[in-house]
Amino acid sequence: MMSNVQIPAGLKELLQGYTVEVLRRRPPDLVEFAVQHFTRVLENRRNDQPAKKSSGKSARKGVTFVTKSDKSTKDEEEEEEEEEEEEEIVSEYYYHALPTGKYRRRVSVCAEAYNPDDDEDDDAEPRIVHPKTDVQRCRLQDACRDILLFKTLEQEQFSEVLDAMFEVLVKPQEHIIDQGDDGDNFYVIEKGVYDIVVQKDGVSVCVGKYDNKGSFGELALMYNTPRAATIIATQEGALWGLDRATFHRLIVKNNAKKRRMYEAFIECVPLLKSLELSERMKIVDVLGARGFKDGERIIAQGESADCFYIVESGEVKIMIKSKTKAGQLDNTEVEVACCSRGQYFGELALVTNKPRAASVYAAGETKCLVIDIQAFERLLGPCMDIMKRNISQYEDQLVALFGSSVDLKH
Ligand code: CMP
Ligand code: CMP
Repeated sequence: MMSNVQIPAGLKELLQGYTVEVLRRRPPDLVEFAVQHFTRVLENRRNDQPAKKSSGKSARKGVTFVTKSDKSTKDEEEEEEEEEEEEEIVSEYYYHALPTGKYRRRVSVCAEAYNPDDDEDDDAEPRIVHPKTDVQRCRLQDACRDILLFKTLEQEQFSEVLDAMFEVLVKPQEHIIDQGDDGDNFYVIEKGVYDIVVQKDGVSVCVGKYDNKGSFGELALMYNTPRAATIIATQEGALWGLDRATFHRLIVKNNAKKRRMYEAFIECVPLLKSLELSERMKIVDVLGARGFKDGERIIAQGESADCFYIVESGEVKIMIKSKTKAGQLDNTEVEVACCSRGQYFGELALVTNKPRAASVYAAGETKCLVIDIQAFERLLGPCMDIMKRNISQYEDQLVALFGSSVDLKH
């Protein structure tokens, strides 16, 4: 019987379009919404104008697409006329632009191969702009200030990233990402605490947490792999999402440049010698670069730690406050070591899970590569033995300097 049923051409697409809009807007009345939706589809067809991808603005949806070739301002009348047409443009691209949610995930993107150099025709890609109030933009800028993946972007690329980001409010116990899913967005944390849970052999293990800062969700987008961990909000929080298409166009492309820039240097970092080339390149993909002025403090003794450093140029001095007889920290600092190009520091607190054991200052203009604690744990596991061996020498160093061992824990 069923074999006689003919599915009319276009039915699937029509219903899909409607379903998508329902999931997106969650209207209270599905029938009423269906009438509006299909009326719009009909009107669009009547207008029978080919949709231009080059410009589109839809305040109702809170998202704008801009291409470099068409940024001119249009008067209101023209905009009104274009509204219906824009509707189509938005639905064409909505998978890229929407805030997260399981049902809002893109479905077709996983066929993309990881080849950032492919995207030559950048200008053809629409720029996604989520309009923001001044207050929102300030909050966003604050949240993005220390995001390592953004640290090597040009100013122009960075502002495109900020334009494309959209706010996502989350509730306690909400799964922002589920391990195994396709990647839709990259997230920057504005506030909230998030557990990182990894399933191994059917057992869920909480391998870490993000505490009111940091970012996650870059791996699936960079390498076209399923999500490698589940991220769960433990309290109400606020995130900023960046859609996959923009992430690809700006961050992945920039990573290709980063690899070219840092490949030779990373090859000669003694600590990383035991890693495979591909593992070293994964470090390059997630690292950030930071410059410090002469005398600037990079690490403060006693503070909590969230990153690890490799000196790219210049020199840093490691200074320790000794303890008074009463067990208080003495305010005078003593230099215990220095690090130059290719050497690393800031691993101790990450390995021991203790506050920073020393302060570190730039001696002259200095540039460091920075790796966050999550990437440190994920990518530098194989170098742990070397680090631990070196850590055991700190104790001897301190005995030699102070005559007795200073408690590194503070
Ligand atoms: P992605 O795989 O896209 O989605 C889950 C994210 O969790 C992942 O990107 C990382 O950003 C983040 N993450 C943090 N710690 C880990 C870890 N140990 N293993 C895998 N992913 C991690
Ligand atoms: P961390 O404790 O994270 O921050 C300060 C860093 O100084 C520390 O990691 C080490 O990388 C580095 N360091 C070098 N020599 C010593 C030392 N003798 N004692 C403690 N830290 C040292």
